[in-house]
Amino acid sequence: MSLRFHLVASLLFCCSGASSVHGPPQQVLAFAGEDVILPCSFNVTARNDFPTVEWSKEGLQPDVIFLYRDGCETYEMKNPDFQYRTSLIVKELKNRNVSLRISSVRLSDEGKYKCMKLWKDAPREITTVTLVVVAVSEPKLSVVSAESGGVTLQCEANCWLPKPEISLLDDQGNIIPAEEPRRVRDDSGCYILTRKVTLRDATKRVTCRVHQPEINLTRTTEILIPACLRVTPDRSQFSRYDLISLSCEDTLDNSTGWKVKRNTSAGGVRHCSSSWGSLSSDATCIIGNAYSPDSGVYWCESEDGERSNAVNITISELTVILESPALPVSEGTSVTLHCKAVMKLSDRKFTFYKDGHVIASSSTGEMTIHSASKSDEGLYKCAISGEEESMESWLAVEAQMVAERRGSNDVIMEIIA
Ligand SMILES: *[C@@H]1O[C@H](CO)[C@@H](O)[C@H](O)[C@H]1NC(C)=O
Ligand SMILES: *[C@@H]1O[C@H](CO)[C@@H](O)[C@H](O)[C@H]1NC(C)=O
Ligand SMILES: *[C@@H]1O[C@H](CO)[C@@H](O)[C@H](O)[C@H]1NC(C)=O
Ligand SMILES: *[C@@H]1O[C@H](CO)[C@@H](O)[C@H](O)[C@H]1NC(C)=O
Ligand SMILES: *[C@@H]1O[C@H](CO)[C@@H](O)[C@H](O)[C@H]1NC(C)=O
Ligand SMILES: *[C@@H]1O[C@H](CO)[C@@H](O)[C@H](O)[C@H]1NC(C)=O
Repeated sequence: MSLRFHLVASLLFCCSGASSVHGPPQQVLAFAGEDVILPCSFNVTARNDFPTVEWSKEGLQPDVIFLYRDGCETYEMKNPDFQYRTSLIVKELKNRNVSLRISSVRLSDEGKYKCMKLWKDAPREITTVTLVVVAVSEPKLSVVSAESGGVTLQCEANCWLPKPEISLLDDQGNIIPAEEPRRVRDDSGCYILTRKVTLRDATKRVTCRVHQPEINLTRTTEILIPACLRVTPDRSQFSRYDLISLSCEDTLDNSTGWKVKRNTSAGGVRHCSSSWGSLSSDATCIIGNAYSPDSGVYWCESEDGERSNAVNITISELTVILESPALPVSEGTSVTLHCKAVMKLSDRKFTFYKDGHVIASSSTGEMTIHSASKSDEGLYKCAISGEEESMESWLAVEAQMVAERRGSNDVIMEIIA
């Protein structure tokens, strides 16, 4: 009987209580995975009565996602998709602010929400809010192949919504013609984009730009296509009259405007064929007969002053030479150091030093590091019994890397008005 009474009462209430909708629907933008607040509030009433607040989502079954009655949340009505994800902001209730916080927003949360305030004896008030869910991620730019035909890069934007545009730009910010982007929609509804580009022209830096025009949101990632100074033979110590070839290799092609430069204590900073070396091609410089003043630091430099790796080269006047790689060796590879004397005599004992300590001796003049690791880095020298010691040379060990990714992700964002 009491149940029937309730039913009748609520039916009566329902039919007599007209609703008033406040203002145009508000639009709120949320990032997938983050929290969002859907605004809703009410004005002071004459009796200072706190209404029942019902938040619902259009098209959802059951549609209630939050119900606040008599100072408590009523859980039984709540749609399971929103379990533990919706709440009012307790400290705001005294300000008659019944905005709803949705945590860990999902792409499927996008839609129309209704905040209904039910008064004991006044028309209900309805506020509607449209939630737009966007997804963004940092694009990833990587080298997929580097062959003689050119370097192929791929940019991947993992989860974006709405559908963004993806473009690849060169040093000057011009768009590089690229393959058609590939777009797939994953199960959660966001877009995964990939776009490949094969670089034909010289460029030292490529930027991948992912842009969403409707929400004016941009994320970019850069990759440097480095040039590398190669020393042939790959040694850091040479003897007088040795022939040394220095070339600037671009991952792209052999003529991208990189030039060999050096800094020596006697000559200062000079480029090839200005009192030293002869150009055998644009990017290769040959020292025909090396002398000790050629000792110094060598590198490649582009027209706009960007520098490649730098290499120390020493032309030793000593009778013992340590042959160790001028360029850093990759971790895990095997490296052989040779100890050589200008005069070749038999029955010698060779001693190798690292950072001033004896690390090996041999009768062959060779020492092999089987799997180079960071701890093998150091200053090496060698000595031959009955001869002098060699000069010291630095051996560098590095993790292998094709190109360096520069993290410069600027986010430009604007909420829809
Ligand atoms: C509260 O009152 C102000 C001024 O009368 C009005 O502009 C506003 O729409 C009201 N807000 C609500 C939620 O009723
Ligand atoms: C309601 O509370 C939220 C969260 O504290 C706040 O962002 C919002 O501005 C408040 N709304 C009003 C009308 O005070
Ligand atoms: C997008 O945002 C940028 C940076 O805030 C701004 O300069 C540009 O005018 C915006 N574009 C549009 C179409 O709103
Ligand atoms: C660059 O030049 C070297 C030697 O001349 C050659 O072996 C190599 O294939 C060239 N690389 C490219 C990408 O053209
Ligand atoms: C050249 O080397 C000298 C000393 O070795 C150093 O002081 C100077 O800064 C170097 N110059 C450049 C441009 O690297
Ligand atoms: C070259 O050698 C000098 C002296 O040993 C050292 O200070 C410098 O860091 C080295 N430079 C490079 C690029 O290896």
